[in-house]
Amino acid sequence: RSLEKSAWRAFKESQCHHMLKHLHNGARITVQMPPNIEGHWVSTGCEVRAGPEFITRSYRFYHNNTFKAYQFYYGGNRCTNPIYTLVIRGKIRLRQASWIIRGGTEADYQLRSVQIICHNEAVAKKLSDLVNHTCPGFIPEDSPWEQDVSYDLLREENGCECTKALNFAMHELQLIRVEKQYLHHNLDHLVEELFLGDIHTDATQRRYYRPSSYQPPLQNAKNHDHTCIACRIIYRSDEHHPPILPPKADLTIGLHGEWVSQRCEVRPEVLFLTRHFIFHDNNNTWEGHYYHYSDPICKHPTFTIYAKGRYSRGVHSSKVMGGTEFVFKVNHMKVTPMDISTASLLNVFNGNECGAQGSWQVGIQQDVTHTNGCIALGIRLPHTEYEIFKMEQDARGRYLLYNGQRPSDGSSPDRPEKRATSYQMPLIQCASSVPRSEESPEENKIRLYSSRAPEKYSSTPALALVLFICTVSYWDMLS
Ligand SMILES: *[C@@H]1O[C@H](CO)[C@@H](O)[C@H](O)[C@H]1NC(C)=O
Ligand SMILES: *[C@@H]1O[C@H](CO)[C@@H](O)[C@H](O)[C@H]1NC(C)=O
Ligand SMILES: *[C@@H]1O[C@H](CO)[C@@H](O)[C@H](O)[C@H]1NC(C)=O
Repeated sequence: RSLEKSAWRAFKESQCHHMLKHLHNGARITVQMPPNIEGHWVSTGCEVRAGPEFITRSYRFYHNNTFKAYQFYYGGNRCTNPIYTLVIRGKIRLRQASWIIRGGTEADYQLRSVQIICHNEAVAKKLSDLVNHTCPGFIPEDSPWEQDVSYDLLREENGCECTKALNFAMHELQLIRVEKQYLHHNLDHLVEELFLGDIHTDATQRRYYRPSSYQPPLQNAKNHDHTCIACRIIYRSDEHHPPILPPKADLTIGLHGEWVSQRCEVRPEVLFLTRHFIFHDNNNTWEGHYYHYSDPICKHPTFTIYAKGRYSRGVHSSKVMGGTEFVFKVNHMKVTPMDISTASLLNVFNGNECGAQGSWQVGIQQDVTHTNGCIALGIRLPHTEYEIFKMEQDARGRYLLYNGQRPSDGSSPDRPEKRATSYQMPLIQCASSVPRSEESPEENKIRLYSSRAPEKYSSTPALALVLFICTVSYWDMLS
């Protein structure tokens, strides 16, 4: 039994770690520098922006450096009920490789026009009141907006402009990255992704914020993942026929198990990282591994953090439709410097501020719990964060876990009112179970992998069966 248990554990580790390593190698992804953005790019699903706002995007970039972008806004988190659409036209010019975010390219843009079309009367009334209030005299007296009619919010030629009523900015065009990858190792199945700059988590700061990370990528309409149904619906849409995505039920959050990053993630403040979380819902504890890197394909490690603590589930969010609130506490933390400069940095700090003074060495882990965290890395223990989660399934049925976007001002969501209203890049489930009790590992496996648990199982075949099932879905995940 103990052999079986350790085999099971080793297998799970290899599965999650392999998924992270696979992405470390960055083998299948190529980054285009400078990026070629010409073409038609669409959202792959219903996106959530801070506020929250529920949105899908369809952007076209032309050879003559002009663009036409549709932003479709919705009343709910499934993007099934369009409320209004913005049609944005302008010019874009790529500049140099970004100094802020390695791997990104900076760009300038100029707006020619922004038009708005409301898809129902109530929204037309509400938004025209808002614009009338923000920019008195902008809307001609006694002719409030009507549904399905297009109105200017900005027109370069005549100087009319009231985009501030909607906190509108197109600064996402200031940071650009294009990635190409061949799905399933198939040279016929190219997927091209366009990453545009992130949106400030505080809507009132949006118009003043220069992006320092990315939004979820758009896919090239010509080279998209064929399982992306939303892509096709959005591709065919325009301001008079806004995309209506297929309705889906919200999944109840089940955190139990292990989750890993699907790509090298970028955080504002110039951090590249991958994450690996383990949740134990038997005792509401969690463990997190944060692998930090200095480069955009997560090849050169700088330091890793291991943190653990407790969590508690709260209610469905009343603010963000489809989200569930959680509270996370961090009580224990270990740090491993992975390069010389991080080790030296940690050694510079005096006294009891980050582990034993002057003792840091590359590759050697230290527990920093007794020094209340690590000031050098900006982490104080114990620490509490107010989180929001949502869960989804991708086209192949794999579970994706989204947690809240970090505040763009670099602070942490340590008060309930700072809880995020939008999400980070999703993690993917890499192990759906953690044996719950030391005594009966196979009972757990059976419970987790078959809804009608058989009466009796001899341990060896059960393990073989489980490994087989996992191997299949594991390769499926990689492909
Ligand atoms: C740029 O090209 C697009 C698509 O070919 C065209 O519709 C648009 O009028 C052009 N704009 C300018 C300023 O040439
Ligand atoms: C705009 O607001 C003014 C002052 O409140 C009001 O008199 C006017 O009728 C409004 N215009 C529209 C189009 O709603
Ligand atoms: C919680 O449960 C997990 C899995 O059973 C176990 O590994 C861990 O030590 C437990 N933690 C605490 C604090 O009891």
